[in-house]
Amino acid sequence: MPVDRLDADGGWWALTTPNSTYVISVEVDPETGEAAPLQRYWGPALSLEAARRVAGMSGGPANPGGARRHMTSFSRPVEIEELLPVDGGCRWGVPSVQVAFGQVRSLELRLAGVSVTTEAGGDRLDIALEDRCFPFELVLSVRVFHDSDVIERWATVRHRGGTGDAPIEITRFDSGSWFVPDSAVYRYSGVFGAWAEEFQLQRAPLPIGELTFTSRQGITSHQASPWIMIDPGDATEEHGQVWGVALAWSGSWRLTVTHRPEGGVAVSAGFGHEGVRWRLGPGDEITTPPVLGLYTRGGFGAASRAWHDHARRHILPTPQEERPVLYNSWEATTFAVTEAGQLALAKIAASLGVELFVVDDGWFGSRDDDTRSLGDWWPHPERFPDGLRGLFDGIRGFGMKAGLWVEPEMVNANSELYRAHPDWILRMDNRRHDEKRSQLVLNFARPEVRDWALGWLDRLVGDLGLDYLKWDMNRPFTQAGWPEAGPAQDRLWIEHTRNVYRVMELLRKRHPHLRIESCSGGGGRVDFGIMRHTDEVWPSDNTDARDRQIVHHGFSQIYPAGTMSAWVTDSPNPNTGRSAPLRYRFHVAMSGVLGIGGDLTTWSQQDLDEAAELIDAYKSIRRVIQQGRQYRLAGTPGQDRSAVQYVLDDEVVVLIYNPYGNAKRGPRWLRLAGLDPDALYEVVDAGGTGDGPGLLRRGSLWHGSVLMAVGLRSAAWEPIGADYRSDMIVLRRHHRLR
Ligand code: DGJ
Repeated sequence: MPVDRLDADGGWWALTTPNSTYVISVEVDPETGEAAPLQRYWGPALSLEAARRVAGMSGGPANPGGARRHMTSFSRPVEIEELLPVDGGCRWGVPSVQVAFGQVRSLELRLAGVSVTTEAGGDRLDIALEDRCFPFELVLSVRVFHDSDVIERWATVRHRGGTGDAPIEITRFDSGSWFVPDSAVYRYSGVFGAWAEEFQLQRAPLPIGELTFTSRQGITSHQASPWIMIDPGDATEEHGQVWGVALAWSGSWRLTVTHRPEGGVAVSAGFGHEGVRWRLGPGDEITTPPVLGLYTRGGFGAASRAWHDHARRHILPTPQEERPVLYNSWEATTFAVTEAGQLALAKIAASLGVELFVVDDGWFGSRDDDTRSLGDWWPHPERFPDGLRGLFDGIRGFGMKAGLWVEPEMVNANSELYRAHPDWILRMDNRRHDEKRSQLVLNFARPEVRDWALGWLDRLVGDLGLDYLKWDMNRPFTQAGWPEAGPAQDRLWIEHTRNVYRVMELLRKRHPHLRIESCSGGGGRVDFGIMRHTDEVWPSDNTDARDRQIVHHGFSQIYPAGTMSAWVTDSPNPNTGRSAPLRYRFHVAMSGVLGIGGDLTTWSQQDLDEAAELIDAYKSIRRVIQQGRQYRLAGTPGQDRSAVQYVLDDEVVVLIYNPYGNAKRGPRWLRLAGLDPDALYEVVDAGGTGDGPGLLRRGSLWHGSVLMAVGLRSAAWEPIGADYRSDMIVLRRHHRLR
C-alpha cells in the first residue's frame, strides 16, 4: 500500500514509493486545537515498522505538539517542517499560504478530516483543514505512485460561506512546501538563462536566508526554471543523496528556498508572484498546480533518470511514439514564406528523409515582418491567393506530414483583430499598453478569447489536416489587468495559463493525430505543466552546436530527451557566427529530437548526402535516445570532452564530443554506465574509430563490466586532432554470460 496509517488515531501516515518513504503527521496543539500537517521524514525507503519508529522518535503519537512546545521564545518555529505553512500564529518564515479576511490577515486552522483514496496507479491522501471562525477550507493533497519515486502534491482553498458572506483574499497560495532533512552543508542545483542562452546549470552552496527563483512574466521564463535540486554538498553524477522539487506550471511562479539559521531547509513552490491578489466569493475555490518532489540516492544522474521516467509514465501525452524528424523553415526563410520557397525546401528535406515539414512564421494576414498581423489567422492573400492547401498538398505529396507555426495568445496593434477587439488585450485603465516585439498579449483568461482561439485553431487544423502545431509565445505580460473583471481580475494570472492548457487539450481531443510543440521565443515555456499537453518543446533559439550542448545538459537535468526539439542549422551559425562540421552539428541535435532548420537550398551535395546518412542513422536509434535512460558520462558539454549515453532494453547509444581537438586535458578512456555487467555487447556502429587499444570495431564483442570499469576509446577523444570531432557508437546486448 503506498499510503499507510502508522498510528491508531490517524495522525501519522507513511507514503511509500519504490525507493523512498515520506512520513507525514498532523500535529494538533492540545491547548489551541490548531492543526499543522508536518513532514516528518523524506528519504530512503523504510519498512512500516521503521517508519513507526520515526514517529516515536519525533515525539510521535504519544507526544502531540512536542516539537512546537519545546521551542524557546526566540527560536525560529517548526513551520519549516510544515507541509504548507500558513501566515498566522507563531510563524515568521516563508508562508506558503497567505489569506486575508477583511482586515484579518492570519489563519488559525483546525483539522477537519483525513482521507485516503485508492487510485489507478497509486494512492492519494487528503488532509482537510478549516479556519477556526471564518468560512475557509484548505485541503492538502498528496499522491504517490506504484512505479515512481516522484510524489505529487497540490492544494485547494474554498470559501465555504453563503450569500452575503464577505469575500476572502488570497495573496500567496503555493502548491506545497518540502522539508529537506538535516545536513551540515546544503548545495542547490538549478538552471538560469536568458533568451538564446537558456538552461545554464548552476550548482552552489545554499546560503543561509531565503533564496527565491521566480518568473513574473506570465510564462515559465528564460531566466529561471521552476525546479531545484538540493544535496548535502557531496553528490556527484553517480553517487549521493539528492532531493528535488519541480512545479508543473507554465505561468508566473515562485520557488523559495529557506535555509534557516538554526538549520533545516525547506522549498515552497507555487504559482503567482508577490502582489497578486485572488478573491474568493462564497462557493469559489482555487486549486494549485501540482508540485512534484523526488528523493534519490544515485546522484544527479539517477535523479534525472527518475524525473525522466516519471515524465514518461505520468506526464507526457505520447511518450511511446517515436518523434518524427522534422524540418522547420524559420532560420531559412524567416517571414518570407511563399509556396514556391517552402516547396523548394520541402523537396530537399523529403529527399534527406525528413518526415514532418513545419512552416514557421510569415504565412498569415499581411505578415511581412514582426510588426503586423498577429491575430489575423488566415492565409497571406498575396503569397497564398488560393489558400494554403496547395502548399500542404505539396508537402504531403513529398511523403511528409505537415505542421504550422501559430502564436494564439498574441495580437499586433496593426491587425484586423485588434481593430475589432481592442478590449481583448491585457490592459489597465489609465496605463500605457507597452508593446514588446510590436505585440500585445491577448487576455486568454477571457472566455470569448479562449473560444475564439479554439475556433480558428480547430478550423485551421481540420481544414488543412495539420499533423503538428508549433505554439509560440513571444513576450511577457505587462499591464496585466482585466478591468471588466473588477476585483477578481488577478485570476487572469491563473486562467490565462489554464485556458492555454484547455485549448491545447480540446484541440488534441478533436484531432487525435495532432501533435503540439511548446515554444516561447525559444525556451521560455518549458515545464512539467506544458509537457502534459505538448509532445515536444523548443529549448532555445540558439542553434549553435556548442552552445546547444550546454543548453541540452541543463535541460536534461529533469526533462527527458524525447521532448527536446533540436535542429541542425547552417554553418556559420546565424546566432553566433561559429562554424562547425555538419557531423558535429548532427551529433548534438541527435541527443534530442532531431530536426533540420537550415537553408537546404544552399547546402552542398556532399553535405546533403552526409545529412541523409545521418538522418538514416538517427532513425535507427532514435527510440533509444527518445525513450531510453540517459547517462551524462563525462566532461563539461560544449567546453571540453564530453559524452552522453542512452540505454533502452538491449540497445545502447553513446554520443561523444570534443569541441577543442588539440586540448591535452581530459580523459581518453570513456567509461560507460547502466550496462548489464554480466553480458557481452556487440558493436553495431563503431563510429569514426580506427585501430588501437580500446577502439571499437564493428561486430566485436565487449563485456558490459569492462565497458563500465575500463571504458572504450573514441577517435573523437584522441589528443591530437581537429576541433569539433564527434562520434556516435551503438552497442547491442548480445547475450548474458550467466
Ligand atoms: C520565436 C521562435 O522561438 C522561433 O523559432 C520562431 O518561431 C519565431 N518566434 C517566429 O516569429
